[in-house]
Amino acid sequence: MTRAIGITDISAATTSLFLPLTALAEAQGTSAGKYLRGIGQHEMSVPCEDEDIVTLAARAAAPIIERHGAGDIRTLLFATETGIDQSKAAGIYVHELLGLSENTRVLELKEACYSATAALQFALGIVARNPGEKVLVIASDIARYELDSSGEATQGAGALAMLVCADPAIMAIEPASGLFTENVHDFWRPNDRTTALVDGRFSVTVYLRAVISAYDDYVSRGGAKFADLSRVCFHQPFTKMAAKAMQTLAKHAGAESVANAVSSLEETMILNRRLGNTYTASVYMGLLSLLEHAELEAGERIGIFSYGSGAVAEFFAGTLIEGYRNHLRPGALTAQLDARREIDYAEYRERHTRADRTGDFETRVEGRGPFRFAGVRDSIRAYEKA
Ligand code: HMG
Repeated sequence: MTRAIGITDISAATTSLFLPLTALAEAQGTSAGKYLRGIGQHEMSVPCEDEDIVTLAARAAAPIIERHGAGDIRTLLFATETGIDQSKAAGIYVHELLGLSENTRVLELKEACYSATAALQFALGIVARNPGEKVLVIASDIARYELDSSGEATQGAGALAMLVCADPAIMAIEPASGLFTENVHDFWRPNDRTTALVDGRFSVTVYLRAVISAYDDYVSRGGAKFADLSRVCFHQPFTKMAAKAMQTLAKHAGAESVANAVSSLEETMILNRRLGNTYTASVYMGLLSLLEHAELEAGERIGIFSYGSGAVAEFFAGTLIEGYRNHLRPGALTAQLDARREIDYAEYRERHTRADRTGDFETRVEGRGPFRFAGVRDSIRAYEKA
């Protein structure tokens, strides 16, 4: 029998500040209903000056290292589209903060929100060749759009870490995968920009086309039929997008009740409603939310749809392992969400503008996490334990 490979631990982190979307709506003169119900978002996580993708990633992964040790980890794959350097992998800073062995390979993967799924698939391949090794996959992003743009309400921030190994404790990933790629400009960020460019409504259309294409490819490659997926986690740039995706997929797959399929998404949305878009981490935040909030049985198959603008998508599935609940940290991310300080619209705007500064600078001590970004000295980013 082939040995199961998959996720043995999963842990997430977010920032220390948040903006309620009611405050954004009020400042813009928009109806709050558009954000709360129309796109299904309630809050957005906002970073402090001394928080970035590295500190978020290290905060997400630290509990995994505490529980499992660093010994068997020989690869760290860092997925992000909030790159902090054109050459150096952000994961190298995380490698140091977590105290991983120097005999580790570390690299960064990029393809918009999709790349954590590529990292997960690469991790499965590495473990298949060397079943004694573990791979640390980290997705970390800060979603930023221009002030007063249509994407602004979907901003957010967070990181999620997964430990991948043989005989996993939480979820075994099945080999079948459905793929999709098309060269489109629905969302992209040229090298001279700190905020993304987006054709919002077009991006929704491409996303929905990718769901169908990747799902059909998944089924044609031996994947389970829709009726054999007990739940599906979709990438959630905003939670209503998952509802649109499920509606499209359930209709396409001939589901008995499209409405029931859409309502089965509820537990996948609880964390993302408060985080905002976490780009590469978003679909796995949906998975974490489902694992923590739904009563699921061992052996149940969970579909996962990962989408990255540009665009690349993948549909695959995993099955839950007996006793998986004992390996979660229930409420850990919710406690971080609850501990964030609420900021008002004026402070949000000031921070958004300030985040664009360049050159050397020092940051104020603000964040509540265990690691901080101290600033840039001689063009080198400095990190320290808080
Ligand atoms: P918009 O154009 O400002 O909003 O932005 P809208 O007018 O389309 O309204 C949104 C929804 O709210 C509509 O519902 C309205 O009817 C409803 P829908 O027709 O879609 O079902 N609405 C209300 N509902 C209740 N009460 C009210 C009310 N008023 C209106 N009072 C848009 C929407 C998504 C375009 C915008 O948020 C945007 O540009 N977002 C960024 C792009 C995005 O998230 N795209 C998603 C697919 S692409 C993707 O997922 C990749 C991504 O994560 C990046 C990556 O891969 O790296 C973004």
